[in-house]
Amino acid sequence: MKYVLGIILAAVVIGGIAGAVHLYRVSAKNKKEMAQYANKSAEVTNNLGKVLVVYYSLTGHTKDIAEKIAAKTNADMFEIKTKEPYPEGAKLYTTSKKEIKNKQYPAVEALPNIADYDVIFVGAPVWWYTMAPPLFTVLGQVDFQGKKVVPFSTQGSNVGTFFEDFAAAAKNATVLQHADFNNIDKKYDKQVEAKIADWINGL
Ligand SMILES: Cc1cc2nc3c(=O)[nH]c(=O)nc-3n(C[C@H](O)[C@H](O)[C@H](O)COP(=O)(O)O)c2cc1C
Repeated sequence: MKYVLGIILAAVVIGGIAGAVHLYRVSAKNKKEMAQYANKSAEVTNNLGKVLVVYYSLTGHTKDIAEKIAAKTNADMFEIKTKEPYPEGAKLYTTSKKEIKNKQYPAVEALPNIADYDVIFVGAPVWWYTMAPPLFTVLGQVDFQGKKVVPFSTQGSNVGTFFEDFAAAAKNATVLQHADFNNIDKKYDKQVEAKIADWINGL
């Protein structure tokens, strides 16, 4: 019994240390990335024409980036909403994992009307190293023929195959350079604004 408890305790301690090391590494990487944008302008000088920002966001991070993009490009916004809400807590993880594994994506309330737009930014959180399932639903149903599409993601730290999966799923799109945004402290807002401007100016 003592032996078993010892093993459990060791596993918990090692897990805790590994988690702390991971968090430290991500935070150092974020800090380094943000330092690049410390003195850069947050102004967009590239006129993209008529822009739409389509996004899915469960907890607000992607919405925040979508709003920043829209403000800089004078864009309209479209929020993807699932017909049924996702469950909370651990069930969110098991439900979404099953959807991705079985390629059975949730129904969404309405599709974006992209007809009037020249450029469409499309963003979602990374879930299970790929796109959050509601974005798979939308990409499965929208035809981007003749449109320039700019994908973006938000994530803890690992985008996995989000952008490869996006390119494969976005029917007939001309996919431009993507950007990904790790969740980061609000104190870096100015740098995030500059990162967005830098990305958009390079499109
Ligand atoms: C079900 C689930 C799976 C996730 N998987 C990943 C992942 O694979 N990689 C990662 O870096 N972050 C992952 N995250 C964290 C989210 O990508 C991150 O918090 C994102 O910014 C949330 O966006 P939102 O606030 O717009 O919903 C996951 C979150 C959830 C809820």
